[in-house]
Formats: sequence, structure tokens, C-alpha cells
Amino acid sequence: MIDSTDTEWWRTAAIYQIYPRSFSDSNGDGTGDLAGITARLDHLATLGVDAVWLSPFYPSPQNDGGYDVADYRNVADEFGTLPDFDALVARAHDLGIRVIVDLVPNHCSWEHASFRAALASAPGSPERAMFHFRDGRGTDGELPPNDWQSMFEGPAWTRTPDGQWYLHLFDESQPDWNWSNPAVRADFEQTLRFWLDRDVDGFRVDVCDAMVKADGLPDWPYPTKGVVRPIDGRMPPMWDQEGIHEIFREWRAVLDSYEGTRILCAEAWLPPERTARIVRPGEMHQAFNFAYLEQQWDATAIRDTIETSISSNDAVGAPTTWVLSNHDVMRHASRYGYDGPVALESGVGADDPQPDRALGLRRARAATALMLALPGSAYIYQGEELGLPESTDLPDEVRQDPVWERSGHRIRGRDGCRVPLPWTVSAPSFGFSASETTWLPQAADFGNFAVATQDGVPDSTLSLYREALSLRRSLTGPLEFSEAPADVISFTRGDVRVVANISTSPVALQAGSEVLLASGPVQGLTVPADTTVWVRLAS
Ligand code: GLC
Ligand code: CA
Repeated sequence: MIDSTDTEWWRTAAIYQIYPRSFSDSNGDGTGDLAGITARLDHLATLGVDAVWLSPFYPSPQNDGGYDVADYRNVADEFGTLPDFDALVARAHDLGIRVIVDLVPNHCSWEHASFRAALASAPGSPERAMFHFRDGRGTDGELPPNDWQSMFEGPAWTRTPDGQWYLHLFDESQPDWNWSNPAVRADFEQTLRFWLDRDVDGFRVDVCDAMVKADGLPDWPYPTKGVVRPIDGRMPPMWDQEGIHEIFREWRAVLDSYEGTRILCAEAWLPPERTARIVRPGEMHQAFNFAYLEQQWDATAIRDTIETSISSNDAVGAPTTWVLSNHDVMRHASRYGYDGPVALESGVGADDPQPDRALGLRRARAATALMLALPGSAYIYQGEELGLPESTDLPDEVRQDPVWERSGHRIRGRDGCRVPLPWTVSAPSFGFSASETTWLPQAADFGNFAVATQDGVPDSTLSLYREALSLRRSLTGPLEFSEAPADVISFTRGDVRVVANISTSPVALQAGSEVLLASGPVQGLTVPADTTVWVRLAS
């Protein structure tokens, strides 16, 4: 049972992201579904997480993995039914796990009834005013209304048969809503209430920093990928506009009118001092810390990001969050297997340089042991508790990320982190489905990472996550950095010291330290390179 009197649960919650297509399949069609999730919630209870966040399961043509929503208040046939959703929430709550759903307010699918109505209506109609329709530039309006580029490559505008253009910051199948229209706001309030009435514990809000665009949609001749920062002293006109905050305050009031503590979590690729503005009192509860995710395996960079993140959030009374992987970036077990910077969303093909798997996993385990010791709330992406690598050899024909086509087969995209999970070894699709084939193919060696392979094995990655998530609950008190050798991050939380050895040589622990948790083999009091330990200090 969840403790409904706990109003502060979100300040320290470990939140597990489920990508429904790839978690577990209940009906043998090779695609994960809600009943599959419900059947496997025990895994998450044993893992020790406080909440799950479900990526979209709404009706959708799946042009962008369901982030192209055709109906915000229903379940896609392939994922199940509304009663299946209710059963999932009930089972999760019985197990003490809260449920957060994905809200996609920047854009919908071109199959959404409102967008179809807009296309069928005349320029200037109220139906078109739900979106950003404009006449084009050039003598015949043959040029897009401005120079904005889609996040998935190519222009951010598509022309309709009657000559007008509509704005889409992502795929052309994802028209952007016009948030200066009160009808859009009213519609989304209905969506919030719909899911709150079904007892969800909160919303993860997709690209919430893009909802409001600068007046006049001025040109922006610069790229916008990764964490958004001002260029030449200007913020991009499609990101982080002041008007977003008023919307968040309205939503917060709606959530606060419900029983229990329901939360809003911002997805916004902004630097810490800008994300902190979204979590000011009366706005959202927390925001993803993508600046943290972006750091390479570099002690100074990681330590600096920890400091700026905590100080930015402390200044507004919000918890800091931490995240290393999600459905949009190369899994961290593979990312850290490269030396130097990695393009987070670009994907890897069989002919590209491959990561050093052993190195990647060792560093990923150290990175997670560090992350889970930090104060605040932490996000875990399905499969990372298995040390699952990115699938870096998917055949190009199976790729589904819209960026692959839109970039003219230049950018492979994010499919490699979305491959169905392995549960067991000797079953079709490693226990994911009764089917041998899955919507994205699993690697032949996925059985080595299966839950059943790692369960009860003391030094497995699964055991490390379980131990860390359990011990994490006893870490209280603020973080205080300690003196440490170069490329070592060391801090205390109460009587526990955390030492992350990011250097290339071993470091010695203080005499009398009792090792509570280690991400790799520790001999005596010597912490090898690329290893994190938690120790209790001698009293
Ligand atoms: C968010 C989602 C990503 C999606 C994009 C457009 O960044 O996490 O998967 O493609 O928004 O909705
Ligand atoms: Ca299924």
C-alpha cells in the first residue's frame, strides 16, 4: 500500500521509467503492453523503487514511439484497455509503488481529432487556431513561415494542400499545439483530471519548455540540440519562454486540489539554473537533470554539475534529481565504453566504432552507485538495473526512430536503447513475449543480462541496484564534499562516506572504514579505478 499521508515522497523517490512497448508482452504479439507490466510489477517491488513513470500508451500511429498522441484519454489497442490501466494502478499501489504517466502537451499526432478538424477547416478558423498555422514566405507562400528546424532534422513546417503551413518542432506527424489559445488549455485540464480521477500519482511532462513560442515566431538561425543555452545572448524563441510558468502554476493548482500528493515532473533540456525556475514554489515538483546525464566520465565535470544542480534547486526549495539513461539516449553502460564525447541521441550502427563493453559496464555501475548516493530523487530507465548495453548492431531496416528517415539515413536515432527486456534465458524472446520475434530484435546474448540470470548472484548488476536502492533509504542529511585525490569524488552524508574513483589508479580508504556497498571488487581498503564505494566511517 502506498502511504497517502506521505506528502513528501517525491523529494527522495527512486522513479523507474517503463517504456511500455519493451517491458513485457502479455499476449504474444511481440509488443509490450499494460497487462505485461502488471504481471511483472513484482520485479520492481523487489528492486525497491518508489514509483514508475510510464512512457505513452495512448492511441497513436506510433510515428514517434507514442509521443505522437491521437487521443490523450484512452489506451491504445496494442497496449490494452482502460480497465487494464486501472488494474495496473491498483496492483502498483498494493505493492507500494506510485504511478506517473506521460503528458505530451507540446504537440499531438496528426491523427488527433482536433488536428484533423483543423486540416478540414479554412485558414483563420477556430479549428486552425488550436495549432500554429501560417501563410508561407516567398512570392507564392512556397517558403516556410520561418527558418526553424525540426528536432528530428529538416524544416519545422509542413505545407497543407490549401497552401498554409503548420509548425511541428518534431516530426511532421506531430503538430504543435497553440498554447496561447484558451481552448487548448481547457482541453489539457480535462486530460489532467481524467488521469487524476483514475488515481495516477503524477505526470512527466514532455518537452514542457517548448509549449510557448516567442511572439511573432522570429527566425532562429542556430541549431538547437541537447541542453538549450543562450546563443549570442539570446534564448531560442521556441524554448524556455516566460509564458510556460503560468501554465505550470495552473496545473499545479489542479493537482493540489486532489487528495494525496500528485506530482509534475518537467522534461526540459535546460541548464540547472533555468530548470530550477520550473520548480519554484507553486510550479512543478521536480525536473530532470539533463546536465548531469550529459557529463562524460570526468570527475571535475561531474562534481561541478552536482554542486550547481544542488545549489540551483536549493535556492527554490526543490529536490535535485539525477538521471543517467532514458528512452532518448544511448544507454550509459555503452556510453561510458567510449573515450571522449558521445552523441547521445544519434545511435550506433554495426559499422560504427563499438563501445568497450567491459569498461562501459564497470563505469556504469560506478556511476549508478554514485548517483544513488546523491540527495534528492533519482530516475532509473528499464534495463539499466541489468547493466543492459545499447543495441549497437540493429539492422537498419528495423529502425523506427523518425530521425532515421528525416535525416536521409544519416542519423540512426534512439532505437538501440528501446529493445525489449530479457527476463529469462530459455524461453522465446528471453521471456519478454511468448513470441520468438519482438518489435525490435533482441541481441543474441541478451540472456546474459536477463533478470533470471542475475537474480541472487551477489556481484550482478541487479544485486547492486537492489542493495543501493535499499541502503539509499538510510542516507540522510545533506551532501558534504571531502578532500580527495585528483579525479576522485568523495562526500559524506551523515556517517556514510561515498568515494567514486574516476581516476586511473587505485585509492585507499581511511583505516577502519566498513564497506557497505561497492560497484566493483574492493580488496581490503583499496578502491580500484572506475569503482564507487559507500563506507561507514569508524566512530
Ligand atoms: C521527448 C521524448 C522523446 C520524443 C520527444 C517528442 O523528448 O522523450 O522521446 O521524441 O519528446 O515528443
Ligand atoms: Ca502485446
